[in-house]
Amino acid sequence: MTEAELYDVYQGVYVPKHLHPPESLQYYENFTFRPDDVLIVTYPKSGTTWLQEIVPLVLSAGDLSAVQTVPNWDRVPWLEEHRALVLNLEQRPSPRAFATHFHRGMMNQSYNKVKPKVIYVLRNPKDVFTSSFHYYGMASYLVNPGTADEFLEKFLNGKIMFGSWFDHVKSWLNVKDEDNIFYIAYEEMIQDLKGSVSRIAQFLGKSLSPEVVGKIAENCEFKSMKQNQMSNFSLVPSEFMDQKKSEFLRKGVAGDWKNLFTEVQTEQFDAVYKDKMKDVTFKFAWD
Ligand code: A3P
Repeated sequence: MTEAELYDVYQGVYVPKHLHPPESLQYYENFTFRPDDVLIVTYPKSGTTWLQEIVPLVLSAGDLSAVQTVPNWDRVPWLEEHRALVLNLEQRPSPRAFATHFHRGMMNQSYNKVKPKVIYVLRNPKDVFTSSFHYYGMASYLVNPGTADEFLEKFLNGKIMFGSWFDHVKSWLNVKDEDNIFYIAYEEMIQDLKGSVSRIAQFLGKSLSPEVVGKIAENCEFKSMKQNQMSNFSLVPSEFMDQKKSEFLRKGVAGDWKNLFTEVQTEQFDAVYKDKMKDVTFKFAWD
């Protein structure tokens, strides 16, 4: 199926129709944030699911019940997805945790006024591309990626869900005096999960003992999450996500792009990256 059949254009970016009907997008526009809300913001395939596991555990000081009984999409719902319409989010006790794939400029009026806590997750865009390439091949609500060359063209031009990786990252980095935003890289979490959990806890104002941090990190390891039905998307019907083609929790490593990119593709990617990121001074974990 084509982009025209599967996606709508919302604020200049493609959004998959199946997950984001107009009522969901409208709901988000009118959503009222609270100052102690925690919003996980990611470009897709950057580690959203990982944070949907870590954040509730940090907020509950290591209580495993939510991650063992509630699927990640209801535990930390995406505000732009249809589930948000039925979950009665207004009634949830504080601190609430949500996810979104919106660019900074797409955030609503309430966000701009309230400035809830944001955890922005960055990931090496070549690994985001690689993870996306496999994911678009197994998820029926997305346009089939075609060859790696064809998908690379689309990725570099932002012709995929939620638009350009470059625009997304720059929109969230290019903010002034917004100390509600905490940045963390997927690669840092791979390198030091316990340290990352501690830093997230500190940002969220939770003082956790080393034992609790250790317990959270252990539960959030790739192999633990892969076994957790509430986090590995195995509850999603296979017509929608065919995990026989590619698992949702696929490899969980940094640098898998090296197994996909040819030399020519690497050069092409690097040239676009250099040009689009030339004014960005942020020190990325992958540079
Ligand atoms: P790969 O496809 O490279 O394995 P998102 O949740 O934003 O869609 O991102 C999915 C990516 O994050 C997948 O990458 C997935 O395996 C990875 N991921 C999820 N949980 C992880 C964990 N605990 N450790 C490492 N990677 C994880």
